[in-house]
Amino acid sequence: MKLLKIASMASLDHRLINLSLLLLLIWVFSTIPQCTHSMPPAPPVTCNATNCVLRNAYGTWGDRKDCWALSVVYPTTEEEIRAAVGQANQKKLKVKSVGAFSHTIPKLACPDENSLIISTAKYDSGIEIDAKGSTVTVDSGVSLRGLIDKVEEAGLSFVAAPYWEGVSVGGLISTGSHGSSWWGRGGAVHDHVVSVSLVVPAAASEGFAKVIRLDAKNPLFNAAKVSLGVLGVISKVTLALDMGSKRSITNVFNNDSHFEDEFVDLAKKHEFADIIWYPSRNTTVYRNDDRVPLNSSGDGINDFVGFQSDSALISSSVRWTEKALENAGNVNGKCTMAASVVAYKKLIANGLKNNNLIFTGYPIVGRQGRMQTSGSCLYTPQSRTLTTCAWDPRVKGLFFYETTAIFPASKFKDFILDVKKLRDLKPENFCGVDVYNGFLIRFIKASTAYLGQSEDSVILDFNYYRADEASTPRMNQDVWEEVEQIAFFKYGAKPHWAKNRNVAFSGVQQKYPNFNKFIAAKKQLDPQNMFSSQWSDEIIFGNLPTKVDGCAMEGLCICSEDRHCNPSKGYLCKPGLVYKDARVCRNSSSSAA
Ligand SMILES: Cc1cc2nc3c(=O)[nH]c(=O)nc-3n(C[C@H](O)[C@H](O)[C@H](O)COP(=O)(O)OP(=O)(O)OC[C@H]3O[C@@H](n4cnc5c(N)ncnc54)[C@H](O)[C@@H]3O)c2cc1C
Ligand SMILES: *[C@@H]1O[C@H](CO)[C@@H](O)[C@H](O)[C@H]1NC(C)=O
Ligand SMILES: *[C@@H]1O[C@H](CO)[C@@H](O)[C@H](O)[C@H]1NC(C)=O
Ligand SMILES: *[C@@H]1O[C@H](CO)[C@@H](O)[C@H](O)[C@H]1NC(C)=O
Ligand SMILES: *[C@@H]1O[C@H](CO)[C@@H](O)[C@H](O)[C@H]1NC(C)=O
Ligand SMILES: *[C@@H]1O[C@H](CO)[C@@H](O)[C@H](O)[C@H]1NC(C)=O
Repeated sequence: MKLLKIASMASLDHRLINLSLLLLLIWVFSTIPQCTHSMPPAPPVTCNATNCVLRNAYGTWGDRKDCWALSVVYPTTEEEIRAAVGQANQKKLKVKSVGAFSHTIPKLACPDENSLIISTAKYDSGIEIDAKGSTVTVDSGVSLRGLIDKVEEAGLSFVAAPYWEGVSVGGLISTGSHGSSWWGRGGAVHDHVVSVSLVVPAAASEGFAKVIRLDAKNPLFNAAKVSLGVLGVISKVTLALDMGSKRSITNVFNNDSHFEDEFVDLAKKHEFADIIWYPSRNTTVYRNDDRVPLNSSGDGINDFVGFQSDSALISSSVRWTEKALENAGNVNGKCTMAASVVAYKKLIANGLKNNNLIFTGYPIVGRQGRMQTSGSCLYTPQSRTLTTCAWDPRVKGLFFYETTAIFPASKFKDFILDVKKLRDLKPENFCGVDVYNGFLIRFIKASTAYLGQSEDSVILDFNYYRADEASTPRMNQDVWEEVEQIAFFKYGAKPHWAKNRNVAFSGVQQKYPNFNKFIAAKKQLDPQNMFSSQWSDEIIFGNLPTKVDGCAMEGLCICSEDRHCNPSKGYLCKPGLVYKDARVCRNSSSSAA
């Protein structure tokens, strides 16, 4: 039955039959209960006798160049972190911290060459719950999943969480990571931080490094909540907890005619609401997601399909298909693929399962800790086939960019109206994004963190194809460049610190009214800029390097001349179609709209 539904989505166009068959095959594969053997992500730091290289989870940074450090240490206690920072200070080395898996996409975590990497991969055992005070204090290397499981065991809940659980507490608060909520303390994890301990450089008389504990009574606290790794090494974090609860989720499919008028009400009505917009399908999905009492019946789980373990075969086949369609310039093929993917996700409720096994109907009710975040590709039990997360570079699976823009809620409607204008010129051009997750729209509340959001905000995420080589033109890349520039320049959206291509950071410091206060705090805690690097400076100060040939092909610059695109392949620098001030690389041989 289910197979027939998917098959009927496929076009009869014979050129697409191969694609449809492949998608079917992939679907069949992914539904057969497999005996699988999970393959943990590669460690981000690898060393030889002379130095170490740091990679992110995708294996490739924005500029496709590795970054280097002299060495790495794996402290297991706060005192070992203090000693490591002290020694680095004494030897005048620079320092960068990284979590166990390094999921930050821009080069924020990249050290200068003359540096020490402090990994928190083995600093992950301390989790102390204060049930009376409703707080938990964790070592910064504790994973989000580790934190949540302990909190739930104690009958409590930690309600704010990014949707991906494979991150460390230190790493996620450093970059302003978030789930979705305008209620209570809001959807950003850093707004649930009660106090934070930082290891910072100190005088020789103090052993060259010391631990300081900051809470709301200290003026430095608003700098330390979102610190981008440049204030010091976070050693401990205390987070506010709530009473244990469950969540009830219902996904509601609508056409996309009016969602720009409805998102505010949705966020006010449902505590953890979000919206997925599939622009090429004229479709939105409202996630009506609410807190419900612990005694509500239901033992559901959110096992988001994009974070399930794929057999290496599936993710490399999907990549292969996407590449074949790109190389053939087959826009309609991408639309078929998008239609199948969206239909499949609807059928399986995006990975929500009523009973741990399958989706049987809405609402899905389950423990907060099993519904708020997922990442089963990290933990699949024992077996035969090689499985991993879909983007694992070792299996040549999915490879994509991610744009994440944060808007003041008041500007989001006009942004959506502009994107709709661009979409309506040629809806097929938007199919590429629906092959991934469409436009994911989430909510975060106003924050006092200097590098957080000063007003209630809307966060938009979208992923899109990245070619194997930097200079290879992508189908309709001008459209994604225009959406990116509408967001960041026309509407002044701010980039998520841990995602995005470099262009998104252009002028970022002017967008934060308290940026100077953050820099003042940095001067106080790290006067020698021990925790800075050329790489993190580029991102934080938003200064893009000098434009070189081809730099706009991967969002390392905005083009102003054809040579910044790829003129030899017919990709020239042109104005936007809706936002005339945009400058994008467009295929001169295809008729623009
Ligand atoms: C598949 C995927 C899904 C994601 N989903 C979401 C989402 O739903 N919402 C969201 O907001 N984000 C999301 N992210 C982004 C992710 O939350 C951030 O990249 C987060 O910072 C990663 O944490 P990490 O532990 O891997 O940190 P790393 O990448 O190791 O480090 C992040 C930054 O923090 C610094 N840092 C790390 N540890 C410390 C420490 N102990 N002290 C001081 N500085 C430190 C590093 O120097 C670096 O600058 C996602 C990322 C991926 C790859
Ligand atoms: C370590 O790796 C770097 C970069 O690949 C290389 O330049 C260097 O020669 C290597 N050193 C040794 C001892 O292998
Ligand atoms: C979209 O849905 C609304 C309400 O459900 C309906 O009034 C409207 O006609 C629909 N628009 C389209 C284009 O189908
Ligand atoms: C979306 O709406 C447009 C305009 O009404 C229509 O031309 C197009 O076929 C629709 N697309 C889908 C996938 O329904
Ligand atoms: C849950 O507990 C509350 C308060 O103890 C009670 O009023 C309610 O009826 C219970 N609900 C269910 C579904 O058992
Ligand atoms: C550019 O447009 C031409 C003509 O439509 C097309 O054949 C080619 O595939 C396009 N290039 C890319 C990378 O999409």
